Amino acid sequence: MKFFVDTADINEVKEAKELGLADGVTTNPTLIRKTGRDFKTVISEIADLVDGPVNAEVVSTETDAIIAEGKELASWAPNVTVKIPVTGKGLKAVKILESEGIRTTVTLIFSATQALLAAKAGASFICPFVGRLDDIASSGMDLIAEIMDLLSNYPGLHTELIVASIRTPGHVLESALLGAHGVTVPLSVIQKLAHHPLTDSGIECFLNDWKKVQSDSRK
Ligand code: G3P
Repeated sequence: MKFFVDTADINEVKEAKELGLADGVTTNPTLIRKTGRDFKTVISEIADLVDGPVNAEVVSTETDAIIAEGKELASWAPNVTVKIPVTGKGLKAVKILESEGIRTTVTLIFSATQALLAAKAGASFICPFVGRLDDIASSGMDLIAEIMDLLSNYPGLHTELIVASIRTPGHVLESALLGAHGVTVPLSVIQKLAHHPLTDSGIECFLNDWKKVQSDSRK
């Protein structure tokens, strides 16, 4: 299972990499804005640090402009993957960019039919947003189950499903149980994945007992 880190903060990418959890990086205009830094500089630094795909999102909305912008983003580093929102015009651009060897991620997916069209267009990755569906009392994970079923019916579709808009460790666990190809996870959720209160209390107990072993041996 691939672990992408969902951030444009270089220090967060470094932390995820040290944990072995930076198989790729996803950014979007909101995450870039949070850094307060220049888009190209941020993407280039991250792409230097990480071997896997680094998603940079287009802001154009017409096919020709998306293609031109995608080519520019892809020229920044060999591992830049062009992130494109799932619209008809976006899907046309996906088809052309992929045919020219530029990898794409189709983003803002909220239905299985959108996922199917993105896979048919040849997208390397698709990103359904689970947290935002949960926000409107829908089920993000039901969508992942549906898309995984759909993809398993058609092994000729080569897209990888990277679960996005992850808000909880439960989203990561359910994604893994459903066999999603990957997840893109904010660092705050990555940190929660390792935590368990019984681990903390167990360490405390072992350290206290070890101190007693040392004081017993001095008696
Ligand atoms: O990768 C997509 C992600 O950044 C969106 O997450 O929490 O804004 O829905 P969120």
